[in-house]
Amino acid sequence: MRFGFFVGRMMLGGVLVTLAVGAFSVSASAADTPRGLAIARSNACMGCHAVDRKLVGPSFQQVAEKYKGNAGAPAMLARKVKDGGSGVWGAIPMPAHPAMSDADIRIVVDWVLAGAPVK
Ligand code: HEC
Repeated sequence: MRFGFFVGRMMLGGVLVTLAVGAFSVSASAADTPRGLAIARSNACMGCHAVDRKLVGPSFQQVAEKYKGNAGAPAMLARKVKDGGSGVWGAIPMPAHPAMSDADIRIVVDWVLAGAPVK
């Protein structure tokens, strides 16, 4: 009886420790990855864009450089991501992203215009 109680406490302790470690690693990785980068990854933006080199589309650093100081850029680029378009960087079009929420698009565009920091 006393032995059983002891084992129960041990197991409970093990579960608590595991949960605490799991919670810590989740919050640590969320803090390391900027929200905009996480959204860009989960919406396949990174299949055509990289932070620091041209792929199918311009690098996000090139985009930040081009629109530096342009107050209309956030709204204009948000619409471009949502509806797609071409002709600014070349003939290849960017497809529309109609399923993305405006809030997610705004976060990812703000992140791009901030120079697409990876940390
Ligand atoms: C299939 C490839 C592809 C995907 C996927 C893609 N892009 Fe693009 N993107 C492009 C191309 C090509 C251009 C250049 C378009 C042009 O010349 O007007 C571009 C241009 C841009 C620009 C600059 C627009 C301008 O007018 O200067 C931004 C900002 C951008 N993309 C963000 C994103 C984001 C955010 C995502 C994910 C939600 C994304 N892209 C997904 C290919 C892609």
